[in-house]
Amino acid sequence: MASQVVNLRVNERSREFLAAPGTSLLSSLRDTLGLMAAKRGCAQGSCGTCTVLLDGRPVMSCLVAVETVDGASVRTLEGVGRDGELDEVQSAFLEGFATQCGFCTAGMIMAAEALLDRNPEPTRDEVVEAISGNVCRCTGYGPIVDAILDAAARRKS
Ligand code: FES
Ligand code: FES
Repeated sequence: MASQVVNLRVNERSREFLAAPGTSLLSSLRDTLGLMAAKRGCAQGSCGTCTVLLDGRPVMSCLVAVETVDGASVRTLEGVGRDGELDEVQSAFLEGFATQCGFCTAGMIMAAEALLDRNPEPTRDEVVEAISGNVCRCTGYGPIVDAILDAAARRKS
């Protein structure tokens, strides 16, 4: 089948590009648009490193065929923070040593952004639930959960 034109709003910017049928959103972001923050881990929906926000909801972008989301808004880690400043989640991860090796970090931060956008005062259990699809191979989940709770407190103050 022929490639088709896809329009997305990515990090507040309109992007139009050609995609072969079945091309994943992750491949479009990384390989077509050059946005490398979302990582390619398992490429089968089981690690969460590729998490981005699609119309405000976290999705595993390796599982989304890009032609099915034509017209959608996408937010990636490149779209977090403003004017070169880190946002509260990024700062809390950095200062709380939650990045560890860092491979899972982009996906974790996007999952945290989605959580705090819909629930500004999550419980610890709600944080754990929100990142349950994101694998940290360092298995250092404690600092990550602490950082997300810290980010919620920073957003409140
Ligand atoms: S790369 Fe998408 S879930 Fe692992
Ligand atoms: S920080 Fe190492 S995999 Fe998450």
